[in-house]
Amino acid sequence: MSLSSRHLIGLQGVPAEDIQSILDTAATFREVLERPIKKVPTLQGKTIVNLFYENSTRTRISFELAQKRLSADTVNFSTSTSSTKKGETFKDTVRNIEAMKVDMIIVRHESAGVPYFLTQVSKANIINAGDGRHEHPTQALLDMYSIKEKIGKIEGLKICIIGDIAHSRVALSNIYGLKALGAQVSVCGPLTMIPKGIESLGVKVYHNINEVIKTHDVLNILRIQLERKAGTNIPSLREYHNYFGVTAERLEKYNKDILILHPGPINRGVEISSEVADGPYQVILDQVTNGVAIRMAVLYLLGSMN
Ligand code: CP
Repeated sequence: MSLSSRHLIGLQGVPAEDIQSILDTAATFREVLERPIKKVPTLQGKTIVNLFYENSTRTRISFELAQKRLSADTVNFSTSTSSTKKGETFKDTVRNIEAMKVDMIIVRHESAGVPYFLTQVSKANIINAGDGRHEHPTQALLDMYSIKEKIGKIEGLKICIIGDIAHSRVALSNIYGLKALGAQVSVCGPLTMIPKGIESLGVKVYHNINEVIKTHDVLNILRIQLERKAGTNIPSLREYHNYFGVTAERLEKYNKDILILHPGPINRGVEISSEVADGPYQVILDQVTNGVAIRMAVLYLLGSMN
């Protein structure tokens, strides 16, 4: 199996066959994660740098674990203890890291476009771990894997992404990936959180959460991103919860067969109630486990293209 690009910058334009190859490969690695010794020699001799300019729990730890499970040598870069603090430019930092002979760079950055920029200045394989409001491809891949694991398919499912679509890189990657695999994708949120013209991506727009719950198979609930000033687009978090919060009461009233995803971190009591976040409809921690397998698959498939 090989992919059509040696980088993973986003899911826009990625062929369905590539996405399917990643999901199939992840299924093999998911089985490795259940073994007493969760390690294979697949990437022995490869050196991978995790370049995280923005906070992360799930993505950073799961990339690092995926690298260790594949026996790669890994190095973690932290902005707070690096020479970035002395004024070194991003390009100079990357060129110096590359001079140490690294094979792959995983990058998270608050600015959209940084992973693409890296492909222009580095010979390493570049994987986007989330860039600004642009894309978060491995999150969407693990979301798709989790849906398929639970329901058995993606094609034909009605899947709604709920919340702060305008500030979300997870939404965009999910839209591209899910549509490539044949899902009917929609978004739901207040007008102020839905980007103008999003229908041109082939998604339906809803503003009524009850209607969405009644008619969909899967909800992917996004976090209200307060650090990106999303709070200024709604009157209050309490009002958002009242109109768009996914609660056990709503699920039990309108659709008891629905599947709930959330990329995390969760704002309990805002976009999702604690009862739902810990309840029987959700697969939130399965998503996290699957994230390691997905990242192993991406590292393996890109690493074999060098
Ligand atoms: N879902 C996600 O990207 O979480 P982190 O920010 O913790 O990596």
